[in-house]
Amino acid sequence: MKKVITYGTYDLLHEGHLNLLRRAKELGDWLIVGVTNDKFDRERGKLNVRNNVLERVEAVKATGIADQIIIEDYIGQKIDDIQKYGVDIFTVGSDWEGKFDYLKEFCEVVYLPRTEGISSTMLRNETQDTVRIGIAGLGRIAARFVDESAFVSGVEISAIYDIDPSAAEKFALRKGLQNIKDSYSDLLQDVDAVYVATPHPSHYELAREALLAGKHVLCEIPMVLEKAQAKDLHSLAKERGLVLLEAHKTAFSPAFNHLITMIKSGVIGEVVDIDASFSKLLPDRSLREYDPLQGGGSMYELAPYPLLAIFRLLGVNYTNLSLYSRMEDGIDMYTKGIVQYPNAVCSFKLGLGVKTEGNLVISGTKGYAYVPAPWWLTDYFELRYEDQNQNKKFFYKWDGQGLRYEIQEFIQCIVNKRMTSIKMLPPISIAIAGALEEFTCKKNFVKI
Ligand code: CTP
Repeated sequence: MKKVITYGTYDLLHEGHLNLLRRAKELGDWLIVGVTNDKFDRERGKLNVRNNVLERVEAVKATGIADQIIIEDYIGQKIDDIQKYGVDIFTVGSDWEGKFDYLKEFCEVVYLPRTEGISSTMLRNETQDTVRIGIAGLGRIAARFVDESAFVSGVEISAIYDIDPSAAEKFALRKGLQNIKDSYSDLLQDVDAVYVATPHPSHYELAREALLAGKHVLCEIPMVLEKAQAKDLHSLAKERGLVLLEAHKTAFSPAFNHLITMIKSGVIGEVVDIDASFSKLLPDRSLREYDPLQGGGSMYELAPYPLLAIFRLLGVNYTNLSLYSRMEDGIDMYTKGIVQYPNAVCSFKLGLGVKTEGNLVISGTKGYAYVPAPWWLTDYFELRYEDQNQNKKFFYKWDGQGLRYEIQEFIQCIVNKRMTSIKMLPPISIAIAGALEEFTCKKNFVKI
Protein backbone atom coordinates (compact mmCIF):
# COMPACT_ATOMS: atom_id res chain seq x y z
CA MET A 1 0.00 0.00 0.00
CA LYS A 2 1.38 3.38 -1.06
CA LYS A 3 1.08 5.96 1.73
CA VAL A 4 0.88 9.69 0.99
CA ILE A 5 1.16 12.50 3.53
CA THR A 6 0.36 16.22 3.25
CA TYR A 7 0.16 19.11 5.73
CA GLY A 8 -1.63 22.42 6.00
CA THR A 9 -3.65 24.80 8.14
CA TYR A 10 -6.90 24.31 6.16
CA ASP A 11 -8.45 27.46 7.56
CA LEU A 12 -11.85 28.36 5.99
CA LEU A 13 -11.57 25.23 3.86
CA HIS A 14 -11.80 26.18 0.19
CA GLU A 15 -11.69 24.84 -3.37
CA GLY A 16 -7.88 25.06 -3.46
CA HIS A 17 -7.66 22.74 -0.46
CA LEU A 18 -10.14 20.28 -1.99
CA ASN A 19 -8.22 20.12 -5.27
CA LEU A 20 -4.97 19.61 -3.41
CA LEU A 21 -6.41 16.81 -1.26
CA ARG A 22 -7.91 15.04 -4.31
CA ARG A 23 -4.62 15.23 -6.20
CA ALA A 24 -2.71 14.05 -3.14
CA LYS A 25 -5.05 11.07 -2.77
CA GLU A 26 -4.52 10.11 -6.43
CA LEU A 27 -0.79 9.73 -5.77
CA GLY A 28 -1.31 6.60 -3.64
CA ASP A 29 -3.73 4.36 -1.71
CA TRP A 30 -3.80 5.91 1.75
CA LEU A 31 -3.81 9.67 2.47
CA ILE A 32 -2.66 11.09 5.80
CA VAL A 33 -3.43 14.79 6.35
CA GLY A 34 -1.51 16.74 9.00
CA VAL A 35 -3.47 19.71 10.33
CA THR A 36 -1.40 22.33 12.18
CA ASN A 37 -2.43 23.04 15.75
CA ASP A 38 -3.21 26.59 16.90
CA LYS A 39 -0.04 27.08 18.93
CA PHE A 40 2.18 25.88 16.10
CA ASP A 41 0.47 28.29 13.69
CA ARG A 42 0.92 31.22 16.06
CA GLU A 43 4.56 30.36 16.53
CA ARG A 44 5.18 30.43 12.79
CA GLY A 45 3.58 33.86 12.53
CA LYS A 46 0.06 32.86 11.41
CA LEU A 47 -1.86 35.04 13.84
CA ASN A 48 -5.08 35.39 11.93
CA VAL A 49 -6.29 31.83 11.51
CA ARG A 50 -10.07 31.97 11.86
CA ASN A 51 -11.07 28.34 12.60
CA ASN A 52 -9.59 26.58 15.60
CA VAL A 53 -7.84 23.25 15.21
CA LEU A 54 -10.97 21.19 16.00
CA GLU A 55 -13.00 23.04 13.38
CA ARG A 56 -10.23 22.65 10.83
CA VAL A 57 -9.89 18.92 11.52
CA GLU A 58 -13.68 18.53 11.20
CA ALA A 59 -13.63 20.39 7.86
CA VAL A 60 -10.91 18.13 6.46
CA LYS A 61 -12.76 15.06 7.76
CA ALA A 62 -15.98 16.24 6.10
CA THR A 63 -14.32 16.21 2.66
CA GLY A 64 -14.20 12.40 2.94
CA ILE A 65 -10.87 12.43 1.09
CA ALA A 66 -8.47 11.88 3.99
CA ASP A 67 -7.99 8.31 5.29
CA GLN A 68 -6.24 9.52 8.43
CA ILE A 69 -5.89 12.93 10.09
CA ILE A 70 -3.06 13.84 12.43
CA ILE A 71 -2.10 17.06 14.22
CA GLU A 72 1.13 18.89 13.37
CA ASP A 73 2.59 20.17 16.57
CA TYR A 74 6.26 21.03 16.13
CA ILE A 75 9.01 21.86 13.66
CA GLY A 76 10.71 18.68 12.50
CA GLN A 77 7.61 16.56 13.01
CA LYS A 78 7.37 15.78 9.28
CA ILE A 79 10.53 13.63 9.42
CA ASP A 80 9.20 11.79 12.49
CA ASP A 81 5.79 11.23 10.85
CA ILE A 82 7.26 9.91 7.61
CA GLN A 83 9.16 7.26 9.56
CA LYS A 84 6.41 6.55 12.07
CA TYR A 85 3.68 6.01 9.46
CA GLY A 86 5.92 4.42 6.79
CA VAL A 87 5.13 7.19 4.29
CA ASP A 88 6.13 6.78 0.62
CA ILE A 89 5.23 10.21 -0.74
CA PHE A 90 5.23 13.64 0.88
CA THR A 91 3.22 16.18 -1.08
CA VAL A 92 2.26 19.83 -0.82
CA GLY A 93 1.15 22.66 -3.12
CA SER A 94 3.55 24.27 -5.58
CA ASP A 95 3.66 27.47 -3.50
CA TRP A 96 6.12 25.49 -1.37
CA GLU A 97 8.29 24.40 -4.36
CA GLY A 98 11.78 23.46 -3.15
CA LYS A 99 11.04 24.15 0.53
CA PHE A 100 10.68 20.48 1.45
CA ASP A 101 13.49 19.01 -0.64
CA TYR A 102 15.22 18.07 2.60
CA LEU A 103 12.59 15.32 3.01
CA LYS A 104 13.86 13.55 -0.15
CA GLU A 105 16.28 11.70 2.12
CA PHE A 106 13.27 9.96 3.71
CA CYS A 107 10.64 9.58 0.92
CA GLU A 108 9.56 10.85 -2.49
CA VAL A 109 8.60 14.57 -2.51
CA VAL A 110 5.95 15.81 -4.95
CA TYR A 111 4.91 19.46 -5.41
CA LEU A 112 1.37 19.54 -6.78
CA PRO A 113 -0.02 22.42 -8.85
CA ARG A 114 -1.69 25.03 -6.64
CA THR A 115 -5.16 26.29 -7.50
CA GLU A 116 -4.82 29.86 -8.67
CA GLY A 117 -6.91 32.72 -7.33
CA ILE A 118 -7.91 31.41 -3.92
CA SER A 119 -6.31 31.17 -0.47
CA SER A 120 -7.35 31.29 3.16
CA THR A 121 -5.63 34.67 3.49
CA MET A 122 -7.77 36.01 0.64
CA LEU A 123 -10.98 34.66 2.19
CA ARG A 124 -10.07 36.07 5.60
CA ASN A 125 -9.47 39.49 4.11
CA GLU A 126 -12.69 39.40 2.10
CA THR A 127 -14.85 38.38 5.02
CA GLN A 128 -13.42 40.67 7.66
CA ASP A 129 -14.37 44.31 7.95
CA THR A 130 -11.35 46.53 7.90
CA VAL A 131 -10.85 48.65 10.99
CA ARG A 132 -9.60 52.12 10.02
CA ILE A 133 -7.10 53.28 12.63
CA GLY A 134 -5.83 56.82 13.06
CA ILE A 135 -2.53 57.40 14.85
CA ALA A 136 -2.10 60.37 17.17
CA GLY A 137 1.51 61.15 18.10
CA LEU A 138 4.07 60.16 15.51
CA GLY A 139 7.14 59.25 17.54
CA ARG A 140 9.30 56.12 17.74
CA ILE A 141 6.56 53.78 18.92
CA ALA A 142 4.13 54.96 16.22
CA ALA A 143 6.69 54.03 13.55
CA ARG A 144 6.89 50.52 14.98
CA PHE A 145 3.12 50.34 15.15
CA VAL A 146 2.84 50.99 11.41
CA ASP A 147 5.40 48.27 10.62
CA GLU A 148 3.75 45.74 12.91
CA SER A 149 0.19 46.42 11.74
CA ALA A 150 1.21 44.95 8.38
CA PHE A 151 1.18 41.51 10.06
CA VAL A 152 -2.43 41.76 11.20
CA SER A 153 -5.30 41.43 8.77
CA GLY A 154 -8.26 43.76 8.89
CA VAL A 155 -6.27 46.88 9.82
CA GLU A 156 -5.75 50.00 7.79
CA ILE A 157 -3.77 53.02 9.00
CA SER A 158 -6.12 55.50 7.45
CA ALA A 159 -5.04 58.84 8.96
CA ILE A 160 -2.23 60.31 11.07
CA TYR A 161 -1.85 63.37 13.26
CA ASP A 162 0.94 65.03 15.21
CA ILE A 163 0.99 68.33 17.04
CA ASP A 164 4.09 69.13 14.98
CA PRO A 165 3.05 69.26 11.27
CA SER A 166 6.61 68.86 10.01
CA ALA A 167 7.03 65.67 12.06
CA ALA A 168 3.80 64.40 10.47
CA GLU A 169 5.12 65.18 6.97
CA LYS A 170 8.36 63.31 7.63
CA PHE A 171 6.55 60.36 9.16
CA ALA A 172 4.15 60.11 6.23
CA LEU A 173 7.01 60.13 3.76
CA ARG A 174 9.02 57.55 5.67
CA LYS A 175 6.09 55.18 6.11
CA GLY A 176 4.40 55.72 2.76
CA LEU A 177 1.24 57.13 4.35
CA GLN A 178 -0.99 59.95 3.22
CA ASN A 179 -3.98 61.56 4.89
CA ILE A 180 -2.21 63.81 7.40
CA LYS A 181 -4.77 65.60 9.58
CA ASP A 182 -4.43 69.17 10.84
CA SER A 183 -6.17 68.51 14.11
CA TYR A 184 -7.04 65.63 16.40
CA SER A 185 -10.77 66.20 15.91
CA ASP A 186 -10.27 65.94 12.12
CA LEU A 187 -8.44 62.66 12.64
CA LEU A 188 -11.31 61.28 14.71
CA GLN A 189 -13.82 62.04 11.99
CA ASP A 190 -12.08 59.80 9.49
CA VAL A 191 -11.46 56.63 11.53
CA ASP A 192 -13.12 53.77 13.45
CA ALA A 193 -10.43 53.64 16.10
CA VAL A 194 -7.47 55.61 17.33
CA TYR A 195 -4.03 54.63 18.56
CA VAL A 196 -2.86 57.20 21.10
CA ALA A 197 0.94 57.31 21.04
CA THR A 198 1.60 60.80 22.39
CA PRO A 199 3.58 61.50 25.61
CA HIS A 200 1.77 60.22 28.74
CA PRO A 201 0.37 63.50 30.12
CA SER A 202 -1.87 63.97 27.07
CA HIS A 203 -3.33 60.44 27.01
CA TYR A 204 -6.32 61.13 29.21
CA GLU A 205 -7.68 64.06 27.18
CA LEU A 206 -7.08 62.38 23.84
CA ALA A 207 -8.55 59.02 24.86
CA ARG A 208 -11.57 60.75 26.37
CA GLU A 209 -12.20 62.86 23.29
CA ALA A 210 -12.01 59.76 21.09
CA LEU A 211 -14.45 57.80 23.26
CA LEU A 212 -16.87 60.73 23.29
CA ALA A 213 -16.63 60.77 19.50
CA GLY A 214 -17.60 57.06 19.46
CA LYS A 215 -14.17 55.70 18.53
CA HIS A 216 -12.39 52.64 19.94
CA VAL A 217 -9.11 53.45 21.66
CA LEU A 218 -5.79 51.67 21.89
CA CYS A 219 -3.67 53.79 24.22
CA GLU A 220 0.07 53.51 24.85
CA ILE A 221 1.18 52.63 28.37
CA PRO A 222 0.90 54.05 30.90
CA MET A 223 -2.58 55.01 29.75
CA VAL A 224 -3.01 57.52 32.59
CA LEU A 225 -1.22 58.40 35.82
CA GLU A 226 -4.31 58.73 38.03
CA LYS A 227 -6.75 56.08 39.19
CA ALA A 228 -9.82 58.29 38.81
CA GLN A 229 -8.90 59.03 35.20
CA ALA A 230 -8.48 55.33 34.41
CA LYS A 231 -11.85 54.57 36.01
CA ASP A 232 -13.47 57.39 34.10
CA LEU A 233 -12.13 56.21 30.73
CA HIS A 234 -13.09 52.59 31.33
CA SER A 235 -16.60 53.45 32.43
CA LEU A 236 -17.03 55.78 29.47
CA ALA A 237 -15.91 52.99 27.11
CA LYS A 238 -18.31 50.53 28.76
CA GLU A 239 -21.20 52.98 28.64
CA ARG A 240 -20.65 53.66 24.94
CA GLY A 241 -19.96 50.04 23.94
CA LEU A 242 -16.42 50.83 22.81
CA VAL A 243 -13.14 48.98 23.14
CA LEU A 244 -10.53 50.71 25.30
CA LEU A 245 -7.28 48.81 25.58
CA GLU A 246 -3.90 49.68 27.04
CA ALA A 247 -1.20 48.92 24.49
CA HIS A 248 0.86 46.82 26.88
CA LYS A 249 2.88 44.60 24.60
CA THR A 250 3.87 42.08 27.29
CA ALA A 251 0.23 41.60 28.29
CA PHE A 252 -0.66 40.19 24.88
CA SER A 253 2.41 38.07 24.22
CA PRO A 254 1.59 34.35 23.83
CA ALA A 255 4.47 33.16 26.03
CA PHE A 256 3.62 35.51 28.90
CA ASN A 257 -0.01 34.44 28.78
CA HIS A 258 0.92 30.78 28.79
CA LEU A 259 3.15 31.39 31.82
CA ILE A 260 0.32 33.15 33.67
CA THR A 261 -2.29 30.49 32.90
CA MET A 262 0.07 27.70 33.95
CA ILE A 263 0.90 29.38 37.25
CA LYS A 264 -2.77 30.11 37.89
CA SER A 265 -3.45 26.42 37.38
CA GLY A 266 -1.08 25.63 40.27
CA VAL A 267 2.10 24.29 38.65
CA ILE A 268 4.30 26.01 41.27
CA GLY A 269 1.74 25.86 44.09
CA GLU A 270 0.60 29.02 45.83
CA VAL A 271 2.42 32.18 44.72
CA VAL A 272 4.21 33.79 47.68
CA ASP A 273 6.70 36.14 46.04
CA ILE A 274 7.17 37.85 42.68
CA ASP A 275 10.36 39.70 41.86
CA ALA A 276 10.61 41.55 38.56
CA SER A 277 12.99 44.14 37.21
CA PHE A 278 13.31 46.32 34.16
CA SER A 279 16.13 48.75 33.45
CA LYS A 280 16.97 50.60 30.28
CA LEU A 281 19.79 53.12 29.92
CA LEU A 282 18.89 55.23 26.91
CA PRO A 283 21.77 56.91 25.08
CA ASP A 284 20.32 60.42 24.98
CA ARG A 285 19.23 62.29 28.10
CA SER A 286 17.21 64.71 26.00
CA LEU A 287 14.70 61.95 25.23
CA ARG A 288 11.12 62.12 26.51
CA GLU A 289 11.81 59.33 29.01
CA TYR A 290 14.07 61.70 31.03
CA ASP A 291 11.79 64.75 30.80
CA PRO A 292 9.65 65.43 33.91
CA LEU A 293 7.26 67.58 31.88
CA GLN A 294 6.48 64.70 29.53
CA GLY A 295 5.82 62.08 32.21
CA GLY A 296 9.40 60.78 32.21
CA GLY A 297 11.04 58.69 34.93
CA SER A 298 11.54 55.05 35.79
CA MET A 299 8.24 54.53 37.61
CA TYR A 300 5.92 56.00 34.94
CA GLU A 301 7.92 54.51 32.11
CA LEU A 302 8.63 51.01 33.42
CA ALA A 303 6.38 50.11 36.40
CA PRO A 304 3.46 48.89 34.22
CA TYR A 305 5.58 45.85 33.32
CA PRO A 306 6.25 44.30 36.76
CA LEU A 307 2.86 45.50 38.00
CA LEU A 308 1.18 43.58 35.18
CA ALA A 309 2.79 40.31 36.29
CA ILE A 310 2.02 41.02 39.96
CA PHE A 311 -1.60 42.08 39.44
CA ARG A 312 -2.43 39.28 37.03
CA LEU A 313 -1.16 36.67 39.44
CA LEU A 314 -2.10 38.10 42.83
CA GLY A 315 -4.95 40.45 41.98
CA VAL A 316 -5.23 44.19 42.47
CA ASN A 317 -6.06 44.28 46.18
CA TYR A 318 -2.61 44.75 47.60
CA THR A 319 -2.39 46.02 51.19
CA ASN A 320 0.62 48.30 50.83
CA LEU A 321 3.00 49.72 48.26
CA SER A 322 6.32 51.17 49.42
CA LEU A 323 8.59 53.00 47.01
CA TYR A 324 12.28 53.92 47.27
CA SER A 325 13.66 56.25 44.60
CA ARG A 326 16.84 57.96 43.58
CA MET A 327 15.75 61.32 42.16
CA GLU A 328 17.83 63.27 39.65
CA ASP A 329 16.88 66.23 37.41
CA GLY A 330 13.23 66.01 38.47
CA ILE A 331 12.71 62.31 37.70
CA ASP A 332 13.33 58.98 39.43
CA MET A 333 16.40 57.47 37.78
CA TYR A 334 15.80 54.37 39.87
CA THR A 335 12.86 53.08 41.89
CA LYS A 336 12.50 49.98 44.00
CA GLY A 337 9.00 48.97 45.02
CA ILE A 338 7.64 46.52 47.58
CA VAL A 339 4.05 45.37 47.08
CA GLN A 340 2.46 43.63 50.06
CA TYR A 341 -0.50 41.24 50.02
CA PRO A 342 -2.05 39.41 52.97
CA ASN A 343 -0.23 36.19 51.98
CA ALA A 344 2.46 37.34 49.59
CA VAL A 345 5.09 40.00 49.03
CA CYS A 346 6.50 41.27 45.73
CA SER A 347 9.30 43.55 44.69
CA PHE A 348 10.44 45.33 41.56
CA LYS A 349 13.43 47.38 40.46
CA LEU A 350 13.13 49.97 37.71
CA GLY A 351 15.99 51.95 36.23
CA LEU A 352 16.44 54.57 33.56
CA GLY A 353 19.71 55.64 35.19
CA VAL A 354 20.70 52.40 36.92
CA LYS A 355 21.33 49.08 35.20
CA THR A 356 20.26 45.82 36.81
CA GLU A 357 19.41 42.23 35.88
CA GLY A 358 16.04 42.24 34.11
CA ASN A 359 14.51 38.92 35.04
CA LEU A 360 11.26 37.74 36.56
CA VAL A 361 11.10 35.16 39.35
CA ILE A 362 7.75 33.90 40.64
CA SER A 363 8.17 31.85 43.79
CA GLY A 364 5.57 29.36 44.93
CA THR A 365 5.07 26.71 47.59
CA LYS A 366 5.93 23.87 45.17
CA GLY A 367 8.49 25.49 42.85
CA TYR A 368 9.30 28.68 40.97
CA ALA A 369 9.12 30.17 37.52
CA TYR A 370 12.19 31.83 36.09
CA VAL A 371 12.00 34.14 33.08
CA PRO A 372 15.41 35.50 32.05
CA ALA A 373 16.01 39.08 30.88
CA PRO A 374 14.39 40.65 28.99
CA TRP A 375 11.40 38.95 30.61
CA TRP A 376 8.97 41.59 29.28
CA LEU A 377 9.69 40.30 25.74
CA THR A 378 8.87 36.80 26.96
CA ASP A 379 10.08 34.06 24.62
CA TYR A 380 11.42 31.54 27.12
CA PHE A 381 10.80 30.47 30.69
CA GLU A 382 11.53 27.65 33.06
CA LEU A 383 9.60 25.97 35.83
CA ARG A 384 12.05 24.82 38.49
CA TYR A 385 11.58 22.44 41.40
CA GLU A 386 13.51 20.96 44.33
CA ASP A 387 13.78 17.74 42.30
CA GLN A 388 15.59 18.99 39.21
CA ASN A 389 14.24 16.09 37.15
CA GLN A 390 10.86 17.82 37.31
CA ASN A 391 12.20 21.08 35.76
CA LYS A 392 10.63 22.14 32.48
CA LYS A 393 11.77 24.62 29.84
CA PHE A 394 9.37 26.42 27.51
CA PHE A 395 10.48 28.04 24.25
CA TYR A 396 8.47 30.48 22.12
CA LYS A 397 9.07 32.97 19.37
CA TRP A 398 8.75 36.71 19.95
CA ASP A 399 7.80 38.03 16.53
CA GLY A 400 9.22 41.34 15.33
CA GLN A 401 8.72 44.20 17.76
CA GLY A 402 5.86 42.31 19.42
CA LEU A 403 3.26 45.02 18.83
CA ARG A 404 1.36 42.76 16.45
CA TYR A 405 -0.12 40.85 19.42
CA GLU A 406 -1.75 43.93 20.94
CA ILE A 407 -2.95 45.12 17.53
CA GLN A 408 -4.39 41.69 16.81
CA GLU A 409 -6.21 41.62 20.16
CA PHE A 410 -7.56 45.14 19.65
CA ILE A 411 -8.91 44.29 16.20
CA GLN A 412 -10.39 40.99 17.40
CA CYS A 413 -12.15 42.78 20.26
CA ILE A 414 -13.66 45.30 17.84
CA VAL A 415 -14.64 42.80 15.15
CA ASN A 416 -16.13 40.32 17.63
CA LYS A 417 -17.76 43.07 19.71
CA ARG A 418 -15.90 41.83 22.78
CA MET A 419 -15.41 45.00 24.80
CA THR A 420 -12.66 43.82 27.14
CA SER A 421 -9.66 41.55 26.85
CA ILE A 422 -8.94 38.96 29.51
CA LYS A 423 -5.26 39.74 28.94
CA MET A 424 -5.57 43.35 30.11
CA LEU A 425 -8.81 43.79 32.04
CA PRO A 426 -9.97 47.25 33.21
CA PRO A 427 -9.29 46.53 36.94
CA ILE A 428 -5.63 45.84 36.10
CA SER A 429 -5.36 48.99 34.03
CA ILE A 430 -7.00 50.97 36.86
CA ALA A 431 -4.71 49.45 39.50
CA ILE A 432 -1.60 50.31 37.47
CA ALA A 433 -2.76 53.94 37.27
CA GLY A 434 -3.43 53.82 41.03
CA ALA A 435 0.11 52.65 41.77
CA LEU A 436 1.57 55.40 39.57
CA GLU A 437 -0.58 57.92 41.41
CA GLU A 438 0.82 56.70 44.75
CA PHE A 439 4.26 57.49 43.38
CA THR A 440 3.15 60.97 42.25
CA CYS A 441 1.70 61.63 45.74
CA LYS A 442 4.86 60.25 47.36
CA LYS A 443 2.77 57.87 49.45
CA ASN A 444 4.99 55.49 51.48
CA PHE A 445 7.90 57.05 49.65
CA VAL A 446 11.57 57.16 50.65
CA LYS A 447 14.20 59.12 48.76
CA ILE A 448 17.53 57.26 48.63
N1 CTP B 1 -3.27 25.02 -1.54
C1 CTP B 1 -3.49 24.87 -2.89
N2 CTP B 1 -4.14 25.86 -3.58
C2 CTP B 1 -4.57 26.98 -2.97
C3 CTP B 1 -4.34 27.14 -1.57
C4 CTP B 1 -3.68 26.12 -0.88
O1 CTP B 1 -3.12 23.89 -3.49
N3 CTP B 1 -5.16 27.93 -3.66
C5 CTP B 1 -2.55 23.97 -0.82
C6 CTP B 1 -1.25 24.42 -0.16
O2 CTP B 1 -0.18 24.44 -1.08
C7 CTP B 1 -1.06 23.35 0.90
C8 CTP B 1 -2.49 23.03 1.31
O3 CTP B 1 -3.34 23.53 0.27
O4 CTP B 1 -0.49 22.20 0.33
C9 CTP B 1 -2.88 23.65 2.63
O5 CTP B 1 -2.54 25.02 2.56
P1 CTP B 1 -2.90 26.15 3.59
O6 CTP B 1 -1.67 26.84 3.99
O7 CTP B 1 -3.79 25.60 4.63
O8 CTP B 1 -3.82 27.08 2.63
P2 CTP B 1 -3.70 28.58 2.14
O9 CTP B 1 -5.00 28.92 1.49
O10 CTP B 1 -2.47 28.76 1.26
O11 CTP B 1 -3.53 29.35 3.51
P3 CTP B 1 -2.91 30.78 3.85
O12 CTP B 1 -3.51 31.76 2.90
O13 CTP B 1 -3.29 31.00 5.28
O14 CTP B 1 -1.42 30.65 3.67
